[in-house]
Amino acid sequence: MKSRVATSLACFALVSASGIVAAQTVKIGIMTTYSGPGAAQGDQLDKGYKLYLKLNGDKLPPGVKVEPIFRDDTGANPDAAKRLAQELIVRDKVQFLTGFVWTPNGAAIAPLTAEAKVPYVSANAAGVSIPRMSPYIARVSFTLWQSSYPLGQWAAKNFKRVYTVVSDFAPGHEAEEAFTKGFKDGGGEIVGSIRTPMTSTDFIPYMQRVKDAKPDAVFGFNPAGKQATAQMKAYTDLDLHKAGIKYIGTGDITTDEELQNMGDAALGVMTVHHYSAAADRPANRAFVAAYKKEYGEKLNPGFMAVGAWDAMDMIFHAIREQKGNVDPDRTMQIFKNYKNANSPRGPIQIDPDTRDIMQNEYLREVRKVGGQLANVELETLATQYKDPWKEFNKPK
Ligand code: PHB
Repeated sequence: MKSRVATSLACFALVSASGIVAAQTVKIGIMTTYSGPGAAQGDQLDKGYKLYLKLNGDKLPPGVKVEPIFRDDTGANPDAAKRLAQELIVRDKVQFLTGFVWTPNGAAIAPLTAEAKVPYVSANAAGVSIPRMSPYIARVSFTLWQSSYPLGQWAAKNFKRVYTVVSDFAPGHEAEEAFTKGFKDGGGEIVGSIRTPMTSTDFIPYMQRVKDAKPDAVFGFNPAGKQATAQMKAYTDLDLHKAGIKYIGTGDITTDEELQNMGDAALGVMTVHHYSAAADRPANRAFVAAYKKEYGEKLNPGFMAVGAWDAMDMIFHAIREQKGNVDPDRTMQIFKNYKNANSPRGPIQIDPDTRDIMQNEYLREVRKVGGQLANVELETLATQYKDPWKEFNKPK
C-alpha cells in the first residue's frame, strides 16, 4: 500500500512539474499453450489476445498503457502453471492474470490469486467450480453445463437412446454429467458412456463400441483442436453417419478453426454452444473480418479466440474505469458488473453472485454456406443463461 501511495504521489509530481500526463503501465500476465499437444488450442488464445491488443491497445486513458507478458504453460500442466503465475506475480509484478486453455491449470493457480490478490480472468478453462476457488477469479468463457445440459434436454425430444463419449478430465466429466441429467430427466436412455484419454488422437476403438451398441445418437465432448478433427474422422471412417447414428455434442467437437478439416461427414452434426464464426451478428462479422485480415482469409476464429478477446476487453474495461490506478478489490467489483452487448458471441455479462459468464446458448447444425462448412445457428436455446450447475448447487 505504501509503495502504491508513493507511486501515485510521484506521478502527481510529474504531472504538475511538466504539465504532461505521467506514463502509467499496467502489466498483464498471459498464460497459454505454445508447445506440446495443446498448442493448437493455445494458439487460439494467443490470436484472440493479440488481435484485441492490436485493435484496442490505445483505447486507454491518456498516459496509460498496458504491457502484456506472454508465457507458455506447455499444456495441461498444473505445476508449470503455478510456477508461471508465481513468477508473473512476484518477479514481473503483474496487476492482472489471464489465460489458460486448461482447467487443471486454472484450478492450480486459484490459491495464488487469492493470496497475492491478483485478479485472474479465465479466457477458457471451464471447470465448473474454478470461480468458487478464489474471490479474485472471474470467467468470460463458459462451463460445460451451459452447453451440455440444454443439449440433453433438446436431445430427449429427438432421440431415445444415446451413447456418451467424453474426454477423461474435469470438463469432460461435467459435460457427461450435464448431458445425462438433461437427457434422462426428459425421458432418454443412456446406453453407454466412455471416457477417452485426454490427449487421445485415435478414436476408432471408442467409436467402434458406439457403433456396436446401435444408439440413435452419440454425444461427444473433447478439448477441441486436433482432437475434434480426430474424433470426427473416426465417426466418418466407421460410417456411423451411414449407420444412422447422429453425432451431437458441445461446440468443442466442431470448433470453427478446425471445421474445414473435418470433411463433409460433419454435415448434419448438431451442437450447442455460445459461439459460431458463421453467426450473422454485426459484431461477429466485424470480428471475423478483422481476424481474417490479421491471420489469413482461410482461417476462422474458434470459441477460444473469442474467449481471449472478451477476457482482454473485460481487463481493459477495468483499467479504463480506474484510469490506470488499478486496485484488485475495485477491479473485482467492476468485473462483477461487466456487460458487453457486442461480444462476437452476442450479449454477455458477468453474474455478480458467481463471477461466471452469462450468455446465449445456440443450437447449431453443420451446413455448407458459400461452399464452406459452417456451424449455422438455428435457434437460441437459452438466453443470458447462467451456469446451471451453480443454480443446482448453491453455496450452503
Ligand atoms: C478446459 O480444460 O477447461 C477445456 C479445454 C478444452 C476445451 C474445453 C475446456 O475445449
